[in-house]
Amino acid sequence: MSIQAVVQGIGHSVPEKILSNADLEKMVDTSDEWIVQRTGIRERRMCSPEQTPSTLGIEAAHEALSRSGISAEEVDLIITGTVTGDMLFPSVSCLIQAGIGARKSGAFDVGAACAGFIHATAVAGSLIQTGQAKTAVVVGVDTLTKFVNWKDRSTCVLFGDGAGAIVLRGEEDTDRGVLKTVLLADGTGARHIDLEAGGSRYPACSEASKRVRDTIYMAGAEVYRFAVVAMGDACCRLLDQVGMNPEDIDLFVPHQANLRIIESAAKRLHLPDEKVFINVAKYGNTSGGSIPLGLYEAEREGRLKKGMVVMTVGFGAGLVWGANLIRW
Ligand code: ACO
Repeated sequence: MSIQAVVQGIGHSVPEKILSNADLEKMVDTSDEWIVQRTGIRERRMCSPEQTPSTLGIEAAHEALSRSGISAEEVDLIITGTVTGDMLFPSVSCLIQAGIGARKSGAFDVGAACAGFIHATAVAGSLIQTGQAKTAVVVGVDTLTKFVNWKDRSTCVLFGDGAGAIVLRGEEDTDRGVLKTVLLADGTGARHIDLEAGGSRYPACSEASKRVRDTIYMAGAEVYRFAVVAMGDACCRLLDQVGMNPEDIDLFVPHQANLRIIESAAKRLHLPDEKVFINVAKYGNTSGGSIPLGLYEAEREGRLKKGMVVMTVGFGAGLVWGANLIRW
């Protein structure tokens, strides 16, 4: 009897503080018109100094568990997709484990930038399908506003903070669950998005770290060109592998980095507007938080219902990209 990793419930957490395009106009030489036209973003959420990936992740995990009717004691795996950990170590997942009191759970992070939730879901789904875990909390969270250069208009308008979490549980005799995943990478493009200071090459404690960038660097145009191809590529490969067509997708929840990138991926798949979920205007690019936040809002708005086929797809620093097909 095959085991499927079935979504039991979903949660989210976003900081209360809103940073609007009008606020950014006062900080750098930009305009609401430029940001909306080039990215579709109107506002984003921003953490307070006390808020971190683990505090947002704990709130999202709590909500996901409560909506699932599952206690923290029943969780045997926590995986978080994040690249903005509270610290280099321990992992955000361990902090979430302590925060929610999941005493019988393993916990580790997956580093795949904006595709972190896709990768974390793939790992949790596989461990459940092979019977090595029964109940997993999968979190996607990032707090990129903490690493933004607020004087660099080409990056500071893009990012926001947020988290989402799902609970997956192994079930038999069901056609629901994580159906298939595609994960891809091209490390030769590592230089296009990075954050140099604070890692082992330039430890925060070293003199060398003071001579390198300590905020996000992104070659926007290169990443844009890569993203447009990568989104379509991952979705087409995935549909091919499961023998499905774009018409079989009930809802498309892509990584929310830029409205134009989303629209071009949807066009490649010939998806009508009503099948494409978009909330980039409200949150900007929340990296690992973006896809679960989209799934959360889609469900709350009644656009994502039990039994529907949902395609999630993401890309990010690495370069990495990937997609999950889930029967909700
Ligand atoms: N306000 C006003 N003007 C601006 C701004 C701004 N905020 N930012 C850049 N400009 C200017 C530039 O200086 C440039 O001016 P110039 O022609 O005089 O030199 C002009 O606008 C055009 O700049 P481009 O970079 O060509 O603008 P583009 O249309 O490519 O949009 C953007 C830039 C939005 C960053 C786009 O390239 C993009 O979305 N890239 C992908 C980013 C992404 O998705 N990243 C996800 C991964 S992140 C992760 O994994 C952590």
